Amino acid sequence: MVREKWASRLGVIMAVAGSAIGLGNFLRFPGQVAQNGGGAFMIPYFIALFLLGLPLMWIEWTIGRFGGGFGHSTAPGMFHSLWEKNRFIKYFGVIGVFGPIVIYLYYVYIESWLLGYSLFALTGKYNGCGSSEAMVAFLHGYQGLEKNQFFSGLSTAYLFFLATFFLNGVVLYFGVRKGIERVCKYGVPILLVLAVVLVVRVFLLGAPDPSHPENNVIDGLGYLWNPDWSALLNAKVWLAAAGQIFFTLSCGIGVILTYASYLAKDDDVALSGLTAASANEFAEVVLGGSLVIPAAYAFFGAASVAAIAKGGVFNLGFVTMPMVLKQLAFGELFGFLWFLLLFIAGITSSISLAQPAIAFLEDEFDLSRRQAVLAFMAATFILTQPAILFLGQGVMDELDFWGGSVFLVVFATVETILFGWVFGMERAWTELHAGSDITIPRPYRFVIKYVTPLFLLTILGCWLIQDWLPILVLEGVTAANRPYILFTRLILIVMFLGLTLMVRLAWNRRQTREAHNAR
Ligand code: ALA
Repeated sequence: MVREKWASRLGVIMAVAGSAIGLGNFLRFPGQVAQNGGGAFMIPYFIALFLLGLPLMWIEWTIGRFGGGFGHSTAPGMFHSLWEKNRFIKYFGVIGVFGPIVIYLYYVYIESWLLGYSLFALTGKYNGCGSSEAMVAFLHGYQGLEKNQFFSGLSTAYLFFLATFFLNGVVLYFGVRKGIERVCKYGVPILLVLAVVLVVRVFLLGAPDPSHPENNVIDGLGYLWNPDWSALLNAKVWLAAAGQIFFTLSCGIGVILTYASYLAKDDDVALSGLTAASANEFAEVVLGGSLVIPAAYAFFGAASVAAIAKGGVFNLGFVTMPMVLKQLAFGELFGFLWFLLLFIAGITSSISLAQPAIAFLEDEFDLSRRQAVLAFMAATFILTQPAILFLGQGVMDELDFWGGSVFLVVFATVETILFGWVFGMERAWTELHAGSDITIPRPYRFVIKYVTPLFLLTILGCWLIQDWLPILVLEGVTAANRPYILFTRLILIVMFLGLTLMVRLAWNRRQTREAHNAR
């Protein structure tokens, strides 16, 4: 089968930037900042960016392009090409197909809320909500968590889900070049312009309540940017910061490997990886950091920002931000732009989460792209149902915990060690610079070989000590929710084993074919 290729260098950078810039930048980031004490979060965040994020970006671009040269678009085959003698390493690669599917299962549903809310903003559907409590009730009604005057069930949310799910399928159906690349080439610039328009509007808010001049946009920015050095001693903040770096850069997931596999052997990866990471960081700390936090601070004050974020992960984006925007002149329009921005950011990311599984079916089972997309859609349609129907029972949080946090770190640890130690730093450095337009500063050789893996192992170690036992024994989960969480874990285990079995089958098929060709 002929492998797909990107049409242009700009196209691949936009696609990776589109994958990276997502709900993580505009919703998750401000939420994490607020939950972890504002400026306290930013120091670990930047350290994690330079010691984990950037090295992983380069590692994944390089492994991806290298594996693509052997006809592999996903981690099982890529890991095998890096360490041919090892029979088991390909099974570690299963995480790189499994992880993105797990995130996809809830990400697409959240994305569909944004589509819904962009229309609600435009039509003024939530304009009657005069308080944050009413806005929360609106959100809960929409999510099917309660029946109220706004929604009597899940049907509206479900329709928007179907539309979003279908839209993702259509883009994927058109393939890498005509689908993903094209959508990102237009989507990323559009979302950046929308974000800039909203940032300007937020900056013009000043101090909206004259009786509380201390609640103003500038102090809101200070909340984010004034460093709090004492936080460096808090392991929890470090974990949160490292987790955010992974999630936002789409690192440790497996999607960058797949995107980079469509590069040619001598296409640059060093500068392209850096450019995509920089675009993401601009969208996150400059734009994402200048929207929800300063707006919430100016309207509700410092104490409320943390309280709102702690009240629920979606509160800042779906409650506070629309509350602020609807009070402005042309409020409907600004609300619409806010949710449209998030929707575009979401779809350019969700298509990247789907691509590894699709590429896996194409490469290892010789399915045509269309067959692979249809198979992927059928499977994920069924698998998304628990997150939709049992949102209130914690299914989405459980998927996010495993897919969006734990597996990212495990996968990143495996690939970093594989790259720097098994493949070997000498070869790795040469491979990273093949066809490259820049020379990466030499200290990064040391960072990639020692610092990044050590950092990752420390994170895993801290997790093991602090969190694992309580999580495994479902501490803090109500008795009523336990069956749902256990059921979710069962699904995840079955999915993982199923994919492992598929890798085994694919390799058996390959061996049979090679033996046949040799005869
Ligand atoms: N990197 C994507 C995001 O930030 C997954 O949402």
